[in-house]
Amino acid sequence: MLHRRTFLLAGAGIAMSGPLRLLAQPRFQKNPFTLGIASGYPQPDGVVLWTRLAPDALNGGGMPNAAVEVTWEIAADDGFGSVLRKGVERAAPDLAHSVHAEIRGLEPARWYHYRFHAGGATSVTGRFRTAPAAAAANDRLRFALASCQQYEQGYFAAYRHMAREDLDLVIHVGDYIYESSWGRTRVRSHGTPECVTLAEYRNRYALYKSDADLQAAHAAFPWLVTWDDHEVSNDYANERSQKLDPPALYLRRRAAAYQAYYEHMPLPAWARPRGPNARLYTQASFGQLAQICMLDDRQYRSHQVCPPSGRGGSTVVTAGECPQRLSPELTLLGAEQERWLHGALDTSAARWNIIAQQTLMAQRIRLKDNEDAFWTDGWDGYPKARERLLGHIAQRKLSNPLVLGGDVHAGIVADLKVNFDDAKSPVIASEFVGTSITSQGPGAKFSEAARQNNPHMKFHNGVQKGYTAFEVTPERCAVRMRTVSDVTDAQATIRDLAGFVVEHGKAGAQWA
Ligand SMILES: [Fe+2]
Repeated sequence: MLHRRTFLLAGAGIAMSGPLRLLAQPRFQKNPFTLGIASGYPQPDGVVLWTRLAPDALNGGGMPNAAVEVTWEIAADDGFGSVLRKGVERAAPDLAHSVHAEIRGLEPARWYHYRFHAGGATSVTGRFRTAPAAAAANDRLRFALASCQQYEQGYFAAYRHMAREDLDLVIHVGDYIYESSWGRTRVRSHGTPECVTLAEYRNRYALYKSDADLQAAHAAFPWLVTWDDHEVSNDYANERSQKLDPPALYLRRRAAAYQAYYEHMPLPAWARPRGPNARLYTQASFGQLAQICMLDDRQYRSHQVCPPSGRGGSTVVTAGECPQRLSPELTLLGAEQERWLHGALDTSAARWNIIAQQTLMAQRIRLKDNEDAFWTDGWDGYPKARERLLGHIAQRKLSNPLVLGGDVHAGIVADLKVNFDDAKSPVIASEFVGTSITSQGPGAKFSEAARQNNPHMKFHNGVQKGYTAFEVTPERCAVRMRTVSDVTDAQATIRDLAGFVVEHGKAGAQWA
């Protein structure tokens, strides 16, 4: 039904029958661009531009059950003095009045400005840079890595600082929202209980995306994204929830969660969910300098081994109490994605090969009853799958592999090896796990023990929160762990907590 509270029709006599009617000329009384704008998936000739019309964002959006035309504009300057391209998309109720405009025909390696118009309202202005041409001998790629932004546990000041950096790209590796409340200190509230339905997930995204600092980081750069577990629910694996819901029921929840994710991200149409399935894994090329593979390690994974009785999800097990952990049948990516990834790496001609995935890839031994123990939700729960991937990278002598991760709420720098238990096993790749934007992580004692028990870990810090900034050039990749002064302070400042460098041709990070 038409919400007269938020809408006036410009003309009389517009047909109102049927759910798919088009309101070509609505007049908004309230700003419909409350969730900001975003760009994503830059290519040499194009990009995806995103927005969602939601004048009453936290309560379902406040839009009528009708499609509305949204105009996008791309200009060379942020004053829009010369509009280079212009087009119209339909924001329809079945996708919560979101817009995913796929633009082609742009020039490579160029900054553009964009904005949207709808019903007499104009959005803020954003900008994006297209990727360099495939054959370009480009000499620099700068990007930030982010993950894990529990809204209640802190402010998104990190994003305000990120937006001021000089970046080509942002890579987000999951836990963009949290479906539920947890943690020790809370500075603000979800205001609603755990999300289960599509309406609830939509409102949760709206709450997170109403944050001005997050909006600024989206407006400033194009993003590549993947999800982790909290976009659906804690520790889920494929069709199995931690609470062991009937799989058919859980897949309905997953379908709702995946749809809400798609509706709120600058994803291309090929990522649109079909029921409970949505392909997110893909690769993006940045000239001859870098290839980025974005992985999905939630949707296709084997169930975590040795769960606590009556439950699914993760636990911490010793080698002795869970020999199943070593089964080669276990997969974190699923056979199809694993094959695809091997192919994408085999055919890459890039100088730097970046694998962006959700969690910690390096082995992280912890002690349980004085025995070596492993957390089963990350790659440590799927060690043979990790061995397959790192073995493949080693065998193909992949040029400068860098693995990016998140999930564990700690900044970690690690050498990746096919066999972590053999000190002589060569370093195959360098791993950087970004700390969380806000989510609470392990304390100093845990990090200290992690470094002691895992000599391949050069850095481990779960206390400081922020993001990680990368500058890739032909000769090296420079990495800065950027952390905020106080995650509970909306006005927090930022600093470099630590710096590392990976030299071309020499796997393993060194302190900078
Ligand atoms: Fe997280």
